[in-house]
Amino acid sequence: MNIYEAIKKDHDIQRDLCDKILKTSGNSSERKEFWTKLRKELEVHEVAEERYFYSPLIETDSMQEDARHGMAEHHEIDELIQELEATDMVSPHWLATMKKLNDKVHHHLKDEENEFFGKAKKVYSQNKSKELMEGYEKTKRDYKKDWPNSIPGSDLES
Ligand SMILES: [Fe+2]
Ligand SMILES: [Fe+2]
Repeated sequence: MNIYEAIKKDHDIQRDLCDKILKTSGNSSERKEFWTKLRKELEVHEVAEERYFYSPLIETDSMQEDARHGMAEHHEIDELIQELEATDMVSPHWLATMKKLNDKVHHHLKDEENEFFGKAKKVYSQNKSKELMEGYEKTKRDYKKDWPNSIPGSDLES
């Protein structure tokens, strides 16, 4: 497995959880369960992806702008997560915000898979893409263990 395959596998999990959440209602146990899973997937993925996909790309002229763009979208995703956390699940605003998050996530994953992966393949050698995958997977395992406290900035939440 290389970094692209590892990321794609997690993107599929994110898309599946988004679909599942949009089919739930009110403050049902399914909605709570899927939401917690999605939030954990997104937050841990962002940490690992920024460090093992985006960070080395910042050093290149061909991809610095893409890396900036991608990480800015992570920030937008985080803001929607915070808004959902601060909203009552039974309110219509929760579902409306979840739809926004779903759109944002789909758009972001498409940018990464259809645009950034192809460009990154010109930057990372095959060996490097395997090495990055190992760091990515290890970071995910480590940060999942102590989630949500492991997430940088989680102590800043109100
Ligand atoms: Fe991302
Ligand atoms: Fe991603």
